[in-house]
Amino acid sequence: MGHGHGPRGKHGNPADLEGYLAKLEDPERIAWQKPDEVVAALGLRQGDVACDLGVGPGYFALRIARAVGPAGRVHAIDVEPRMLDVLARRAADAGLANLRPVLGHEGEVGLPPEPCAAILTVNTFHHLPDRPGALARLAARLAPGGRLAVVDFHAGELPVGPPPEHKVSREGFLADARTAGLEIVREETFLPYQWFFLVSGRSDR
Ligand SMILES: C[S@@+](CC[C@H](N)C(=O)[O-])C[C@H]1O[C@@H](n2cnc3c(N)ncnc32)[C@H](O)[C@@H]1O
Repeated sequence: MGHGHGPRGKHGNPADLEGYLAKLEDPERIAWQKPDEVVAALGLRQGDVACDLGVGPGYFALRIARAVGPAGRVHAIDVEPRMLDVLARRAADAGLANLRPVLGHEGEVGLPPEPCAAILTVNTFHHLPDRPGALARLAARLAPGGRLAVVDFHAGELPVGPPPEHKVSREGFLADARTAGLEIVREETFLPYQWFFLVSGRSDR
């Protein structure tokens, strides 16, 4: 994947949206992104309500939609309307009526419209404004026992991911979570290029 080093377009995404979509959906991504393991780590059950923030064309959201089944819902938030168009088409093609595209607003963190068992945000944390504030607002949208799951690229040069100057390191995330007053429940270490933390909501204390 990787955002590449080319010119930036809207919403911090590369200007070449078609090329960017192809990278996000690159079949070779599965080897390092391990999407099924990431979704399994969320511990979702059929009927759960979940959210994917910075959903893109739905690499994770389609899998989450299958994990929660027709009795569940997935709020799929992105600030790029064209991503949501692609997502809606893919959901329709896959017969997944439980995916709800939600258009977010530039410069804000979009929130799911109802409490969620899990909120996942992959490779998007580095795009968010006021990151500690975003974490606190997202954690406040968790149902009791729910988890906020944040995955993003490790600092430094890697074969995939955004250029180093756009990244938030693992330690940067931990500092933001501390500032937000959140509790880390678990760190998953099975992804070769990314850090992955699960955070609880304040209502669980
Ligand atoms: C690197 S892509 C990741 C897409 C998807 N999560 C994946 O892993 O395939 C980042 C996505 O976050 C979106 N984004 C950027 N800023 C955002 C914000 N403030 N709120 C919601 N989405 C945002 C972008 O439009 C883009 O679709």
